[in-house]
Order: sequence, then structure tokens, then C-alpha cells
Amino acid sequence: MTDVTFLVCTNRRLSEQNASCAARGSELLIAKLRELGANVQASCCFGHCAKGAVVRVIPSGKFYYGVTEDDISEIFEQNQAE
Ligand code: FES
Repeated sequence: MTDVTFLVCTNRRLSEQNASCAARGSELLIAKLRELGANVQASCCFGHCAKGAVVRVIPSGKFYYGVTEDDISEIFEQNQAE
């Protein structure tokens, strides 16, 4: 099995008028993934800010958009078999 790493965008924009993943709770996603034992890294902006919070899986490169705490367990499980 290939080691999987979850990259979680933690970019925060100063203006509340501009979307950012940190403003949508992405830092909590990192904590949840770590609780599950995942390899996880905070990431800079992926350029998909309007669809945040954004998680990218390496090595597949797959993106997940609009991720919330409720999605984390399923995303983790989906990517364990790669
Ligand atoms: S702020 Fe997360 S993708 Fe841009």
C-alpha cells in the first residue's frame, strides 16, 4: 500500500469578503485527520478558494471540496486502499 498524505489548505484571507479554507474550519480538519492516524500537512492555497475547505490527497492528486468535519472519516477510509 502506498503511503497517503492529506494536504489541507489552511490559507486565511484577511478580508471576510473573500473565501478561504481556514475561515471554513480547515484547521479542525487537520486535527481530525491526525486523530485517525493520517499523514497530514497544512498547505498553502490550491486556488480553489470558493470551493473550500479543500483537501488534496497525495499521490493520487485527488481533490475534495467543501470538506467538513463530518466528511473526514469517509475521506480517510476512501484513500486507505490506494
Ligand atoms: S484558500 Fe484554500 S484553496 Fe484557496
